[in-house]
Amino acid sequence: MARMQRFLFQFLNILAAISIVHCQSGDSLTPNSSLRNGQSLTSPGGIFQLGFFTPISGSVQGYIAIWYNNSSVTERKVVWIANRNQSVNTSTSILNFTSHGNLILFDKGTDVSWSTGTSTAQNSAQLQLKDSGNLVLTVAGGSDGNGGSKETLWQSFDHPSDTLLPGMRLGVDYRTNTLWQLVSWKSVTNPSPGSYAFKMETRGVPEIFLWNDSSKIFRTGPWNDKGSFSGNPRMKNRDISSQLEFNFVSNSSMVYYSTQYKVGWSVLTRAVMNASGQYERWNWESGGWLHFWSVPEEDCDRYASCGRNSICTWDYSIKSCDCLEGFAPAPKNGSLGCDRKKPLSCASNRVLKVIAKLPDTENATIRGLMSLGACNDVCTNDCSCVAYALVGENGCVTWEGDLLDLRNFPDGGDVLYIRLEGSSRRSKLVWEIAVPVFLAFLLLCIVFFWRRSRAGKQDCNETGPETSSVRDDTSLLTCPSKGDRGDCRSLSPMAFDVSDSRSRTMTMTMTRSRSRSRSINSETYGPSNEGAGRLDILEALPSYDLSTIKAATNDFSIDNKLGEGGFGVVYMVCVHMFLASQVIFSFLMTINLVRKLSRMGVSVTMARGV
Ligand SMILES: *[C@@H]1O[C@H](CO)[C@@H](O)[C@H](O)[C@H]1NC(C)=O
Ligand SMILES: *[C@@H]1O[C@H](CO)[C@@H](O)[C@H](O)[C@H]1NC(C)=O
Ligand SMILES: *[C@@H]1O[C@H](CO)[C@@H](O)[C@H](O)[C@H]1NC(C)=O
Ligand SMILES: *[C@@H]1O[C@H](CO)[C@@H](O)[C@H](O)[C@H]1NC(C)=O
Ligand SMILES: *[C@@H]1O[C@H](CO)[C@@H](O)[C@H](O)[C@H]1NC(C)=O
Ligand SMILES: *[C@@H]1O[C@H](CO)[C@@H](O)[C@H](O)[C@H]1NC(C)=O
Ligand SMILES: *[C@@H]1O[C@H](CO)[C@@H](O)[C@H](O)[C@H]1NC(C)=O
Ligand SMILES: *[C@@H]1O[C@H](CO)[C@@H](O)[C@H](O)[C@H]1NC(C)=O
Ligand SMILES: *[C@@H]1O[C@H](CO)[C@@H](O)[C@H](O)[C@H]1NC(C)=O
Ligand SMILES: *[C@@H]1O[C@H](CO)[C@@H](O)[C@H](O)[C@H]1NC(C)=O
Ligand SMILES: *[C@@H]1O[C@H](CO)[C@@H](O)[C@H](O)[C@H]1NC(C)=O
Repeated sequence: MARMQRFLFQFLNILAAISIVHCQSGDSLTPNSSLRNGQSLTSPGGIFQLGFFTPISGSVQGYIAIWYNNSSVTERKVVWIANRNQSVNTSTSILNFTSHGNLILFDKGTDVSWSTGTSTAQNSAQLQLKDSGNLVLTVAGGSDGNGGSKETLWQSFDHPSDTLLPGMRLGVDYRTNTLWQLVSWKSVTNPSPGSYAFKMETRGVPEIFLWNDSSKIFRTGPWNDKGSFSGNPRMKNRDISSQLEFNFVSNSSMVYYSTQYKVGWSVLTRAVMNASGQYERWNWESGGWLHFWSVPEEDCDRYASCGRNSICTWDYSIKSCDCLEGFAPAPKNGSLGCDRKKPLSCASNRVLKVIAKLPDTENATIRGLMSLGACNDVCTNDCSCVAYALVGENGCVTWEGDLLDLRNFPDGGDVLYIRLEGSSRRSKLVWEIAVPVFLAFLLLCIVFFWRRSRAGKQDCNETGPETSSVRDDTSLLTCPSKGDRGDCRSLSPMAFDVSDSRSRTMTMTMTRSRSRSRSINSETYGPSNEGAGRLDILEALPSYDLSTIKAATNDFSIDNKLGEGGFGVVYMVCVHMFLASQVIFSFLMTINLVRKLSRMGVSVTMARGV
């Protein structure tokens, strides 16, 4: 009898040992089982593995980690680490899944290095590594005894390390005060928390910031209605968009950003907050990891690299900063950026439309869903409002104080309306421009015929910039007479003073800006000395300032849109405004303007009035 008992006991022991071995090489752990160095769990599809990981080969100091099973050991890509703060001696440590449903990593046999801190009275607890890379601790059913369903007690996806996998969330759960953030490794061989964090900031309008300890180094911008972040059009790289869905959820209980594989996905993808301060996206394709993009990439990505109230442009690898309209460079006393030339008065209701990365939303206010007109009213009725925009599901958003971290993109960006000093009504503006233009045209022709009759056959000479009455850096392009194919290219100084503001001077004139400063007035465009090779072409073309074109196209109204071409959108201009164009302006356009505007996402072609 005793022999029989001993045999049975040994038999059960063998069975237990087999089941333990089975568990350890499988995808799950059950209560009372454990994992030692050299043992691992592999997800059902063989994509991920969990086990002990030593970042420095030959060292015994290690971590419990999840990595891609497919990569070779030397280039093992770790996506999650349990005990980041406290490494263990791998030869003496053990990962135990207790009978109470707690997962504990013991160093030297008994010292607790890390644990999930979970507990359950039920002995149905299970720990499973999924093919998503998520380690999930579940117990069967809810308290309602709903057979079959599982309740998640803990999951590694709620405790990100430095890697964002599809299905993980980056954000905040307001109910539990949980922060889902990525924190970089200290160095490539030290997984303990480094100084870079990629995390959601929820003040104002939620957006994700890349922090270097306590300084902001990059900002995604708020989520827009195009389904991406305002500050990273590259995020939705075409090759990734076909495989991945991008989600942004913001409601009263949580706000998060996440990605999800689309049906039929064929690549593995991960995004990493890396140890040198870059957030990178990588795809596993045809046997290797392919780098897709990383941020911050260009100088303009660096947080507020142009300072306040200034817009950053990255053009052929050169960074330039332009003050916003109505702002001038701040005195060079150490503060970067631009200040208003004149303080904004409460009655100010002029607005400037720019297409850019929306400014820092930390101090912005969400006003809810409404029309653009209503949003404009909200802003212009609030003395402290300096800008507004419609931002996806937030609806109307208004800014106050300084506008920080604006940049433009070759393509992409969002529409932002910046409030300017002064007041205007659009119809008034049209007449303000059209009447002087027409009068000036008449005057010009009178002058022309008068000079012609006086000069007889005498050559008429170009009137140099020196004599120009309005701008000393302008000379004029004026009406070539039909009969008189002329040497007579420029006639007399002429300027159309639309208002006393210099910025609104209607520059039907050839501008040869001597100053290379692009920061004085962002609304006046004309060929400048840069790119002297193009001056020959440009000399034949007049330039218009943006407000003129805005007025002529009724603020780039859809009604005036003719179509879209290589340059972007093509607009028709109002006839009554451009009577003079019958002679002077037909089909003329300055290349510089096209370049400037196309940077802002629009291009304009002067078409003969309809
Ligand atoms: C890793 O995954 C491959 C399939 O991609 C599978 O054949 C292999 O068994 C896995 N490794 C382990 C240790 O399970
Ligand atoms: C794992 O690697 C093998 C060989 O490189 C490859 O054929 C297989 O598709 C990979 N599995 C996954 C899930 O990427
Ligand atoms: C690591 O330790 C720091 C401070 O000691 C703590 O704030 C942080 O939550 C810990 N991180 C983890 C992942 O345990
Ligand atoms: C790790 O544990 C082994 C076995 O107890 C011991 O010989 C070794 O010195 C330990 N190493 C470290 C770095 O603690
Ligand atoms: C785990 O072990 C304890 C003590 O040996 C036992 O009471 C419990 O039933 C076991 N739990 C499971 C799920 O096997
Ligand atoms: C961990 O589990 C092993 C085997 O399951 C057991 O021998 C050991 O006592 C456990 N360690 C602790 C500290 O509970
Ligand atoms: C917020 O969104 C999450 C995810 O879509 C959803 O599960 C939750 O019920 C929502 N909460 C509220 C209050 O709408
Ligand atoms: C971080 O990412 C950047 C850009 O992809 C790369 O140049 C750099 O080597 C990466 N650093 C680390 C530590 O991986
Ligand atoms: C982060 O801050 C440290 C210390 O101020 C600095 O040395 C490092 O260059 C910064 N990293 C980046 C990417 O700006
Ligand atoms: C620089 O000058 C501006 C305007 O005079 C002032 O508002 C700002 O505080 C000054 N900044 C520093 C760092 O002195
Ligand atoms: C928001 O307001 C606070 C307090 O006035 C200020 O310190 C901070 O710089 C502002 N942030 C931005 C982005 O303007």
